[in-house]
Amino acid sequence: AAELTTVEAGKLTMATNAAFPPYEMTTDAGAFEGIDIDTAQAIADKLGLELQIDDMDFDAALLSVQQGKADIAMAGVTVTDERKNVMDFSDSYATGIQSIIVPEGSDIASPDDLAGKMIGTQRGTTGYIYCSDDFGDNAVVAYDDGLTAVQALNNGQVDAVVIDNAPAKEFVAANPGLVLLDTSYAEEDYAIGMAKGNTALEDAVNAALEELKADGTLQSIVDKYITA
Ligand code: ARG
Repeated sequence: AAELTTVEAGKLTMATNAAFPPYEMTTDAGAFEGIDIDTAQAIADKLGLELQIDDMDFDAALLSVQQGKADIAMAGVTVTDERKNVMDFSDSYATGIQSIIVPEGSDIASPDDLAGKMIGTQRGTTGYIYCSDDFGDNAVVAYDDGLTAVQALNNGQVDAVVIDNAPAKEFVAANPGLVLLDTSYAEEDYAIGMAKGNTALEDAVNAALEELKADGTLQSIVDKYITA
């Protein structure tokens, strides 16, 4: 295959926010792991590039590809029409569901019940965007990451947290006293974000993804991090 031009020669630079288990997280030893990390590594291997992981806030990760500082934004990124105006997306590799976490005994049982409540979200995410559209900016608090939003819920600073279902499950498992509602606020597709018009990279990433889906690698990565 022809050499791909990347932000840093010989490297695939990935912008992420490694506070979103099981897609990307940081171990106590400071290593990155998760579904997106392993998948990006497998893509980099196929492209003959070294994977370089840049950890930052989620909104910064989306900007990073737009500004040409990273080759890919891979962070459980939901494909939306607004984002498509400013970046391109690979084929989708996973689905996500915006879910609602509440304290045990809460009177919130469905998305409609969020009206009039204070909602915690992660800044720049679809959870923030949907909730502020539906319930007004003043009803939504934007935290640096999902865990901080969950801590605010534990402390009673917000009434609910809206976040993707996979991290929601992990946060609830680690926080007795919180429950995950069995209702979905929105369903979404996750894809890899890239600079607009970088068709050489997009084609290469999509071809690699296709192979990883076809040969079962992607599924085995998911199975490694999500046990039913
Ligand atoms: N899927 C949501 C979005 O794209 C949230 C993703 C947050 N990801 C992260 N690594 N913190 O807005």
